[in-house]
Amino acid sequence: MSTLTSILACPRCGISLDKFHCKACQLEFPIIEDIPWLFADPDAARTDWRNRWNLALADLNSRLSQAKTALAGCSSTAKPRLNTLVTGYEKQIHAIRELLAGLALGPAADLTTYLALKTRLPPQAELFSYDANVFRDWCWGDTENLLSLEAIIDILDGVKPRRILTLGSGAGRLSYDLHQHLNPELSVAVDMNPLLATVARRLAAGDKVDLVEFPRAPVDGASVAISRSLYAPEKASAGFEVVLADAMRPPFQPGSFDLVVTPWLLDVIDASPAEFIKGLNPLLRPGGLWIHHGSLAFTHADPAQCPDLAELQELNRECGFGEQQSSEITGPYLDSPVSRHARRETLVTLRATKISDCGELPRYQALPDWLAKGRAPIPLLPAFQTQAMTTRIHAFIMTLVDGQRSLQDIASVLEEQQLMPKADAEVAIRGFLIKMFEEALQRGR
Ligand SMILES: C[S@@+](CC[C@H](N)C(=O)[O-])C[C@H]1O[C@@H](n2cnc3c(N)ncnc32)[C@H](O)[C@@H]1O
Repeated sequence: MSTLTSILACPRCGISLDKFHCKACQLEFPIIEDIPWLFADPDAARTDWRNRWNLALADLNSRLSQAKTALAGCSSTAKPRLNTLVTGYEKQIHAIRELLAGLALGPAADLTTYLALKTRLPPQAELFSYDANVFRDWCWGDTENLLSLEAIIDILDGVKPRRILTLGSGAGRLSYDLHQHLNPELSVAVDMNPLLATVARRLAAGDKVDLVEFPRAPVDGASVAISRSLYAPEKASAGFEVVLADAMRPPFQPGSFDLVVTPWLLDVIDASPAEFIKGLNPLLRPGGLWIHHGSLAFTHADPAQCPDLAELQELNRECGFGEQQSSEITGPYLDSPVSRHARRETLVTLRATKISDCGELPRYQALPDWLAKGRAPIPLLPAFQTQAMTTRIHAFIMTLVDGQRSLQDIASVLEEQQLMPKADAEVAIRGFLIKMFEEALQRGR
């Protein structure tokens, strides 16, 4: 890791690290399974991911017992499918326990506790958020993987970067392919998800990983759970590193890279495009390249934060980037051979050359002490008051759900309690229960 350690900076205070130690913050960053955990608060991140890991395991266990119950009462036609599912869940539980054993697991609480305690990493980032990408990367996705590699090699147009950073590298295939193809002295694959990073690390080291694929829309009963043995075409050549970190607090000294690649990250990351681009600019040396690759499918509530390609290029110019080129190609996305579902995407590959710095980014706002340390009183913010009221009403509605009352009965109770006129209450309760019902369906309960 010597080239890597020479460019590391503390994700908290920004000063160069001494190996994996920050003298100023008096903080030692852990290395688990050969992967440095370079989050600003590595212990909190570890606890947080341990919770999500336990949540994922509790969820798998609950699916397993549902599948067992279904198997016990099923017809002979359904038996092979349900048997496959039961075996699939059992294997996956075993595989996930083993893969992330390094998280130093504590005793597992029950599922509801973990659901309630989802912590500060983006709430949508669950352990299995991008599980299909793992199989695309390392099993059946040659067409898609090659499409991405070729799009990037084409737009590089002969440029041979010495140091490459991939932010949001997921299970790592594109980062690995670029490394093997371009032969740089260093490639760093950064993601915040330890499952994906562990898969990337192990496969790049030449190991095999066994996982079960559960396709969203299995083509037949035998495909509900497919055991996959994942491996890389060859061990990654020297200089390939995997790091766990937040892309919005990248743990690297300024100017460390000649190329930063962000595949399918710009439009999913929990930051505005301007914040994101301003955050990655300092990582590049002058003349270095940023390549965005993937869709432009922003989902920010604020439409100003959902730029099209032309707006994105304008934003890049404001953020210290000069010459820009782009290409587009349409192809399959997550097209598993055992699923009836796949996406078709028109991918944008945008190359932008850094010509100047773009000014200091405001330091990431630390959590206030009442949250971080937990001893000071929690302030009664107006948003908390509103939330407390809605939570009380929701809790009240749920207590009225007793298997006897109808939606209209509950609306009458709300009117009697002078909370809302009955007609309004009916609409509000329906909306709330639709949400609850859909969540229950999604979780299969
Ligand atoms: C849409 S997936 C794409 C993954 C990978 N590039 C691929 O194409 O398969 C987005 C990835 O970004 C990662 N990610 C999202 N926000 C991140 C952040 N703040 N820091 C690091 N990784 C992040 C997710 O964990 C996920 O692996």
